Amino acid sequence: MCGIVGVVSKSKVAHKLIKGLKTLEYRGYDSAGIAILQDGDITILKDKGRIANLEAIINYDSLTGTIGIAHTRWATHGVPSKENAHPHMDQNKHFAVVHNGIIENYLELKDFLENQGFSFSSQTDTEVIPVLMEYYYQKTGNVMDAFKDTLNDLKGSYAILVITPLLPNTILVAKKNSPLVLGIGNNGIYAASDIPAIIEYTKDFYFLQDDEKAVIGDDIVFYDKDFQKTDKESKTIDWEMDAIDKNGFEDYMLKEIHEQPEALKNTLNGIVSLNNPISFVNFSLDKSYLEKLKQIYIVACGTAMHAGLVGKYAIEKICRIPVNVEVASEFRYQDPILDENTLCIFISQSGETADTIAALKLAREKKAKTVAVTNVFESSITREADYTLYTHAGPEIAVASTKAYISQVGLIVALAIYMSEVLDKNTDLCQSLKRDLMNLPDLMNEVISNNQYYQEIAKKMTKEQDLFYIGRGNDYYTALEGSLKLKEISYIHSEAYAAGELKHGPIALIENGTFVVGIVTDPITSEKTLSNLEEVKARGANIILVTNQDIKKDNVIHIPHINSIISPILAIIPLQFIAYFIAKEKGLDVDKPRNLAKSVTVE
Ligand code: M6R
Repeated sequence: MCGIVGVVSKSKVAHKLIKGLKTLEYRGYDSAGIAILQDGDITILKDKGRIANLEAIINYDSLTGTIGIAHTRWATHGVPSKENAHPHMDQNKHFAVVHNGIIENYLELKDFLENQGFSFSSQTDTEVIPVLMEYYYQKTGNVMDAFKDTLNDLKGSYAILVITPLLPNTILVAKKNSPLVLGIGNNGIYAASDIPAIIEYTKDFYFLQDDEKAVIGDDIVFYDKDFQKTDKESKTIDWEMDAIDKNGFEDYMLKEIHEQPEALKNTLNGIVSLNNPISFVNFSLDKSYLEKLKQIYIVACGTAMHAGLVGKYAIEKICRIPVNVEVASEFRYQDPILDENTLCIFISQSGETADTIAALKLAREKKAKTVAVTNVFESSITREADYTLYTHAGPEIAVASTKAYISQVGLIVALAIYMSEVLDKNTDLCQSLKRDLMNLPDLMNEVISNNQYYQEIAKKMTKEQDLFYIGRGNDYYTALEGSLKLKEISYIHSEAYAAGELKHGPIALIENGTFVVGIVTDPITSEKTLSNLEEVKARGANIILVTNQDIKKDNVIHIPHINSIISPILAIIPLQFIAYFIAKEKGLDVDKPRNLAKSVTVE
């Protein structure tokens, strides 16, 4: 969603701010802006739409300021427009603010400030921050006091950067429930909502915790929740620049699909080996705890939830412990029955998804043990959970999740094997699954290498309006994920159905020429799904089949045979490619699909 960049430097910052914003484009946004302190004034430039629109109104030669803040906005309060774009400023032009998050009591604050004679020019919740700062500044005559009093009044979530001519050479920073990192680097001090925006300048980051503040000037001064000065240690993030480059690929999504074998290898490295039981860093579960475990919940959103479904299949098959998979936004309002004998696993690539984090907090209140599975180091979810397991997929930039999904599935299967080993159950199955997991990257490369064939198939489907994806068991979960990929980036409507359910209603929608994608990798259910495919074929459907069976027909995509517990890792790859090629064929922006954001930080 929204993105933030701030720079304090000895040289001009406008280019760096725009470059940082461009790195954050993947988060999804609908307007952009910058504020620069120069000659004792704040200059604000902003516009609706892409960063290119903003750049069109920037004259870099005249923007000589060495301190600035910048923002990409994903509209929540107020339509996407120039007026609602950040930075926002008070009438007296004392404080310019960029903000991620939501000020929940903004209406009450706005009302109060209007009664005090202040006026507003946007519909946003954010605008109350600079106006409130001005109100307190007029009362106290002190910027730091005004900052402190303002933060005291705010309810909700925020990552905030403030610049003011009253404290030149300074950016004021505050964080609560919305990520913010700082770094001291080449020729400047940097602040950003996400590491990629500033990784070019430093690899050592300070991760602000909730309620911490900082003042960036010649150095960084950190403050704790009581506004007392505090020390912070930096943490090194070892990402190379090509991790956030397209590296010769046309799109990030295409690059990330190709990176999947490596992402899985990195995620399982040090965890899975043939001669040792599975072990995790900073995480273990006792045999006595697992024996008492009544149930497991896996809670997540979107693709992460689909990874959770494959996790359910694995844990139930390998450990015989019942698993419920819930969409985070539903779980929260279902009054779930949890206690100390419930293990709750929360999966989130970004680690910032508001619904998933709220669900996690609820599980903790109800005394369940909580494990976060995330791809982003030090993300918010890691601070809420009892334990964190990291996927090591590397930064995922495309909105449509691919390599994170594969890594999540691999990690949860490893967790299932781990629990089974602790319980001394199914030793032979565990051993053979570990072998399979280690062989997977090579098999994935084999599947990826057939991508031209997937492109040919995709071409036949480009003009479709409605598609079906069907499968049973884990193949149904792959169908759900394949269908989501298609919807997200090609804007073609599709439905994923459990193959056996089609005849209970949706088969009425099948007509001559309707495309139905069948996934058939589980030998136990393959005959049944193949019969369901025959049923729709008899009603005129065009079948695309993804299978590891020896079936010789048109439009069949063959993938290598592997245990059905992990077959989704192979079966999803052709479906990712098909969604990608259809979107490209339609001339769409696959990395930044309309209306979507990479991390969904609103509930
Ligand atoms: O960062 P998270 O894994 O928590 O995100 C969850 C979903 O928003 C995400 O998986 C979304 O469905 C993706 N765009 C799917 O490709």
